[in-house]
Amino acid sequence: MQKYLNSIIEGNCIEVMKNFDDEGIDLTVTSPPYDDLRNYKGYVFPFEEIAQELYRITKQGGVVVWVVADATINATETGTSFKQALYFKEIGFNLHDTMIFRKKNPIPQIYRKRYNNEFEYMFVFSKGVVSTHNPILVDCMHAGSELNGTTYKNYSKNEQKREKLAKPVKDKKIKGNIWEYVVGKKEEDQEAKGHPAPFPCQLVRDHIMSWTNQDGIVFDPMCGSGTTPRVAVEMGRNYIGIDISHEYCAIAKMRVKAIESQPALFNASIAA
Ligand SMILES: C[S@@+](CC[C@H](N)C(=O)[O-])C[C@H]1O[C@@H](n2cnc3c(N)ncnc32)[C@H](O)[C@@H]1O
Repeated sequence: MQKYLNSIIEGNCIEVMKNFDDEGIDLTVTSPPYDDLRNYKGYVFPFEEIAQELYRITKQGGVVVWVVADATINATETGTSFKQALYFKEIGFNLHDTMIFRKKNPIPQIYRKRYNNEFEYMFVFSKGVVSTHNPILVDCMHAGSELNGTTYKNYSKNEQKREKLAKPVKDKKIKGNIWEYVVGKKEEDQEAKGHPAPFPCQLVRDHIMSWTNQDGIVFDPMCGSGTTPRVAVEMGRNYIGIDISHEYCAIAKMRVKAIESQPALFNASIAA
């Protein structure tokens, strides 16, 4: 697998992944073609084989982030996202978290008696118990105050009795699992405008931060414009990216090269 490390490979991911070692990847952040929603350049997409290979190549405790949405066909959503999530569970992954990627600037849709779609799923699968979690923290709205009668310890099914917090509300808390991003507007995201559906760089950054440490190996088997490899380089991780399209691989290589040639940015992110 060493020969694939830190490169963008043009090819069918199912063929390329067969050459990877067992349990070599810390984190996969990827997004498959959704239900023929967009016209990519001549893809073939054997979902079940790809999921099985992902399981084989993921380290114990490693994570796969699968970003996906459904098409609406003949007045019904396909449900493909859920079917895929359940298949990942069937082959051995834990469904660690079902997260939401909310778009702050969703594309307006033709009105068809439904609300405008503004999110995608980010299924977080793990092979066994997650080994690395560096949680992102956010400010607590009521930091420092003692909220009589309204702030409680976490309670669960077996814990009917709510207990009031003894201490004042902390400054920071762990971020929720609905993550919001502006799509396609930032300069770093504009680099990918030759691709129809790139990730926002910040979405990838947040997952790499959460689920890996320095020098971890980050993978995207369908990397399109190369957002996952690009951000992995920026954050001092190793990367492997695959895409079936020659045109998208060219964009991905260009983006990675541009980051590698900015040592100031690269070093700053390593120090962070
Ligand atoms: C939703 S896009 C991924 C976009 C990517 N996350 C980005 O930030 O640009 C899906 C990609 O899968 C690629 N693809 C489809 N089938 C593939 C296969 N069998 N092997 C490798 N890539 C494939 C398509 O060319 C397309 O670029």
